[in-house]
Amino acid sequence: MLNRSRVTHHNMWQITTELPTKKIPILLQMEVKLPFLLVICLLTGITGTKYDEFTYNGFNGSELYLDGGAEITPNGLLRLTNSTKNQQGHAFHKVPLHLKNASDGNVLSFSTCFVCAVPPEYPDVASDGLALVLSPTRELPGSLTNEYLGLFNSTNNGNSSNHVLAIELDTILNMEFGDINNNHVGIDVNGLHSVDAAPASYFIGKTWKFKNLSLISGEPMQVWVDYSNLDRKLNVTISPISAPKPSRPLLSSFINLSSVILDTMYIGFSASTGPTLTSHYVLGWSFNINGQAAALNLSSLPSVPFKTHRRKLTPLIIWLSSGVAVLIAITACCIAYITRRKARDAEVFEEWELEHRTHRFSYKELFKATEGFREENLLGVGGFGKVYKGKLPTSKTEIAVKRISHDSKQGMREFVGEIASNSQLRHRNLVELLGYSRRKGELLLVYDFMSNGSLDKFLYDTNKPTTLSWSQRLKIIRGVASGLLYLHEEWEQIVVHRDIKASNVLLDGEMNGKLGDFGLSTLYDHGSDPQITHVVGTFGYIAPELTKTGRATTSTDVFAFGVFILEVVCGRRPIMQQESPDVHLVDWVWGSWRNGVILEVTDARLGGDYDVGEVELILKIGLLCSNPVCAARPTMRQVMQLLDGDLSLPEIPKDGMGIAVSSPNHAEELEES
Ligand SMILES: *[C@@H]1O[C@H](CO)[C@@H](O)[C@H](O)[C@H]1NC(C)=O
Ligand SMILES: *[C@@H]1O[C@H](CO)[C@@H](O)[C@H](O)[C@H]1NC(C)=O
Ligand SMILES: *[C@@H]1O[C@H](CO)[C@@H](O)[C@H](O)[C@H]1NC(C)=O
Ligand SMILES: *[C@@H]1O[C@H](CO)[C@@H](O)[C@H](O)[C@H]1NC(C)=O
Ligand SMILES: *[C@@H]1O[C@H](CO)[C@@H](O)[C@H](O)[C@H]1NC(C)=O
Ligand SMILES: *[C@@H]1O[C@H](CO)[C@@H](O)[C@H](O)[C@H]1NC(C)=O
Repeated sequence: MLNRSRVTHHNMWQITTELPTKKIPILLQMEVKLPFLLVICLLTGITGTKYDEFTYNGFNGSELYLDGGAEITPNGLLRLTNSTKNQQGHAFHKVPLHLKNASDGNVLSFSTCFVCAVPPEYPDVASDGLALVLSPTRELPGSLTNEYLGLFNSTNNGNSSNHVLAIELDTILNMEFGDINNNHVGIDVNGLHSVDAAPASYFIGKTWKFKNLSLISGEPMQVWVDYSNLDRKLNVTISPISAPKPSRPLLSSFINLSSVILDTMYIGFSASTGPTLTSHYVLGWSFNINGQAAALNLSSLPSVPFKTHRRKLTPLIIWLSSGVAVLIAITACCIAYITRRKARDAEVFEEWELEHRTHRFSYKELFKATEGFREENLLGVGGFGKVYKGKLPTSKTEIAVKRISHDSKQGMREFVGEIASNSQLRHRNLVELLGYSRRKGELLLVYDFMSNGSLDKFLYDTNKPTTLSWSQRLKIIRGVASGLLYLHEEWEQIVVHRDIKASNVLLDGEMNGKLGDFGLSTLYDHGSDPQITHVVGTFGYIAPELTKTGRATTSTDVFAFGVFILEVVCGRRPIMQQESPDVHLVDWVWGSWRNGVILEVTDARLGGDYDVGEVELILKIGLLCSNPVCAARPTMRQVMQLLDGDLSLPEIPKDGMGIAVSSPNHAEELEES
């Protein structure tokens, strides 16, 4: 017991015991042991709280209680979730803490500091987050994965009987818990509705400003949590590992913890994943009661996988300075170059891939086609990765290649299955998937090249000399509607697109609109309960019920389609940021309709050169589709009929977004009216 009074854990099982090792040998040399033992006991009794201090620079030999997916990797990383979907993991310091002053019951000051890293499987797509937790138990029984961060479940979330304090690093935007964005730090007391939260950022003294920080960059970051019992203030500070502790905390909240903290508490971490694969790592951790937590030795922390390939070369080069060494270096470089080239071109091929008949390109072919993925050929950066332009060496066909990084076999298999089924989707208004290629760590999707790029450029890019004429816009709207109808009703399965927006509509040489990126969004929630998947989509296009239920349906697609067509007619983004406060395009068009001036919303660049009847029809269809009441929206088939004039437009009341519009079972009435 005694020699635990101050234990420092290093990477290599190295345990140093400071105060007792000095005293015990002296004590043994003396013949009179008993009085000294008493003195020691008294001393430790006085400094009793020191018992609760610990420092881990890497977790080998640590005293942690792990459950769920949590484990200590051989190099000493604490990995809370191991790239498994819908998983949670907890790691608690085994020894309970006494955070209350026994004589007056006040919560004592405490301080803790940790370094963590969250490398996501696909760039910019991570779930769900990581939290530092104070809890009365070492398990969190009944806790759920996904947005519950492994802390609570739907019944106990928010109960004051939880006695849980958590500092969340949340990488998902959950409307139901009032999250501010998908990259924030929050203080949670007994539930996931944060009492205080801020976008992840750190204060820079020089500029007197907070600088944004991405929690899911995969780079290690350091977090400090300090509670002071004098003013009952809880400070949370975060910064990249390369920066010193910022002089101002990110969050600073007055919180009365006395009803939250019980006599014995455990401290630890909790993390959960949702439908995407994300690992949550903790590299080091220190804790102290009534004093500052020890600074971590940043140079001795274990490193996070898939990072830092370069660093090791530099000392080597310094060593190899003699002529012979240079020669060796050259040879080594040659070998390295060849092996790297080999590795670059090495492809992964597995048996299950033979099941799918989708065309598989060789990596070399695509490498050549895109001239080695040159920056000049970069067409854009999407949610899933970079897109390059290319020309197939043999057939001279122009292609667009999307590079997506990955490192999980399991996810890959499902994904390729998805791709394979999508490649059978054929419609003139869908961007054609020509095939794919795969090598270690990377998936490449090959699409038909669309020479006119994405529609949003035409709508918003002020550098484009030409504006779209009304007939071009009408053609694009019809095209997208017919592509979407195919996905919803005409293929053998119902395919929900989930991310309809101007930037996902691509234009070919004849300005035909084609929907792209279909099917990719299902990547988010493969194998998970459709009830609890996350809202996927783009702000401004998300139907109201989607944020509540999280279920994407054909009807939520119709909503987004409605917003999209208003966008095309008005030439304005769905959230009109130039207005203040931000106005939703749908509300704005609705307002003009109510005031009887609906034509005023049309894009000024059209210069009034359009057919009034057509514009009115399209705007009204837009309003019908973007009706907040899901049952009142038409189906894509009805939209098509409205566009073709085969169905007459129902009356749209001016006094509110009524339900007097089409729903599938009203379709017949509509046809008669
Ligand atoms: C991750 O951990 C779970 C236990 O929670 C285990 O069943 C699974 O095999 C692990 N996966 C990997 C890839 O290590
Ligand atoms: C506990 O409370 C007593 C009475 O308020 C105070 O004198 C003492 O310093 C406190 N102890 C600690 C460790 O804060
Ligand atoms: C929620 O967790 C509590 C324990 O914290 C448990 O008693 C309860 O059964 C759980 N509820 C559900 C729905 O899992
Ligand atoms: C930082 O992030 C916040 C919230 O996501 C955003 O509003 C702000 O524009 C960002 N600032 C910069 C400089 O990128
Ligand atoms: C803190 O909360 C406890 C119990 O809820 C209460 O007795 C105490 O007065 C509160 N302290 C302050 C400073 O509000
Ligand atoms: C930090 O760790 C490095 C490498 O393990 C070691 O050389 C150095 O002495 C340590 N620094 C401190 C202050 O403990």
